[in-house]
Amino acid sequence: MTRPRARDRLGPATAILVIAWLAAGCSSGSSRDPLGSPAAGESMSDMAKLGEAIFKDEWLSASGRMSCQTCHLPEHAHSGLPTDAVAAGGPDLELSGLRNSPSIRYASLTPAFHLERDGTPVGGFFRDGRAASLTDQARRPFLDAREMANPSVESVVEKVRRAAYVAEFTRIFGADVFDDPTRAFDSVALALARYQLEDPDFRPFDSKYDAFLGGKARLTDQELRGLALFNDPLKGNCAACHPSARGSDGSPPLFTDFTYDNLGVPRNDMIPANVDAAYFDLGLCGPQRTDLADRGDFCGAFKVPSLRNISRTAPYFHNGRFATLREVVAFYVRRDTNPEEWYPVGANGVQKFNDLPVNLHLNVNTTEAPYNRRLGDAPALTLAEIEDVVAFLGTLDDGYQP
Ligand code: HEC
Ligand code: HEC
Repeated sequence: MTRPRARDRLGPATAILVIAWLAAGCSSGSSRDPLGSPAAGESMSDMAKLGEAIFKDEWLSASGRMSCQTCHLPEHAHSGLPTDAVAAGGPDLELSGLRNSPSIRYASLTPAFHLERDGTPVGGFFRDGRAASLTDQARRPFLDAREMANPSVESVVEKVRRAAYVAEFTRIFGADVFDDPTRAFDSVALALARYQLEDPDFRPFDSKYDAFLGGKARLTDQELRGLALFNDPLKGNCAACHPSARGSDGSPPLFTDFTYDNLGVPRNDMIPANVDAAYFDLGLCGPQRTDLADRGDFCGAFKVPSLRNISRTAPYFHNGRFATLREVVAFYVRRDTNPEEWYPVGANGVQKFNDLPVNLHLNVNTTEAPYNRRLGDAPALTLAEIEDVVAFLGTLDDGYQP
């Protein structure tokens, strides 16, 4: 794939924050600094508190048993259960989803989806960037047949009208808010966005690595070795897509440059939709995203996720194919040197890149370290070095206490 490169192009984090804030509805009347989480001691706005109640409200689903929090659990850094490659939703909680639930910590810092001047896709919400803003994203789970599965906007609004927090809802959005279902539904999405923007739990920046960057903690020898391998362009080269250094304005690293890449992740047979051999989740080019369907060169590319809290958000990749970080890092460096470890072996040999139709195999990135090797080459990392990188990744968990 002749994917245009945009590494190191990430603008100052401040710009991202402004975009996210604007996208989330800056007209909310809040006077707080749009560029940061609330100052210490300052509590969330009333709208954000309402958003928190909505986030946790199972009543707003067709099953009556599913809320946003069901798939974004605080104890798993706001990602899904480690045992689920994909969650089951729908009216009876029996319809399996298509992708693994990501952590939504730090997600509010995502820039809006756009193509860079050189054509590189960047940003957007969901793993294929199909939602333009946090508010746009927040509308969709309510109506997704595999998630909260409400039949219509009106049906969601009708439930809000009978929710425990309805008085607060009309106090904030106006006594006439229910006159127009679209306006009421947009208000729900806006409150959810405010909650994710304002609750410091969604971006505490208090990992051991943050303390290390601030000169307040030491990494162990193994963690330091792992960090060096993570950054080294000839070894892990992880920082090329998951930047580990502060921004030029001093902003803490997010461990994603919000670009897209095609890793050739193996197919996951645990996803029921994959029973159909003709079904492929091709990320940017569809089928869930529809506006880039004619961009064959984008097929199979998924957004680079943040690695903050990564030890708590198993399983990994868009399809939840790997259960442990050790497997993920080993896959990166042994995909091309030892493909038989990752893909099915049939009569015709190893079926490499088996989650992509054969005509798209050339889209897989085979030029960038660490996945630029050939059969017979030495992997970019030894088994001991893989352990070092995994140890380093463990320093990215929120809530470090020295
Ligand atoms: C059934 C499980 C489920 C429910 C319920 C659910 N989500 Fe998600 N969430 C997911 C999955 C899976 C993805 C990734 C989907 C994709 O890439 O297409 C996701 C993605 C997101 C993202 C984008 C993250 C990013 O980095 O781009 C946000 C934000 C989010 N969800 C917030 C919410 C909110 C708010 C609600 C409630 C209105 C909610 N979710 C309900 C499973 C769920
Ligand atoms: C050229 C870009 C690129 C490089 C280099 C890269 N990654 Fe990634 N990484 C991605 C993309 C894109 C994804 C998402 C792929 C998907 O879901 O299919 C990802 C996903 C991951 C995930 C899973 C995250 C999750 O939430 O499921 C981990 C862990 C990870 N990378 C770690 C690493 C490590 C460690 C290295 C270095 C050895 C590395 N990455 C190098 C682009 C890159």
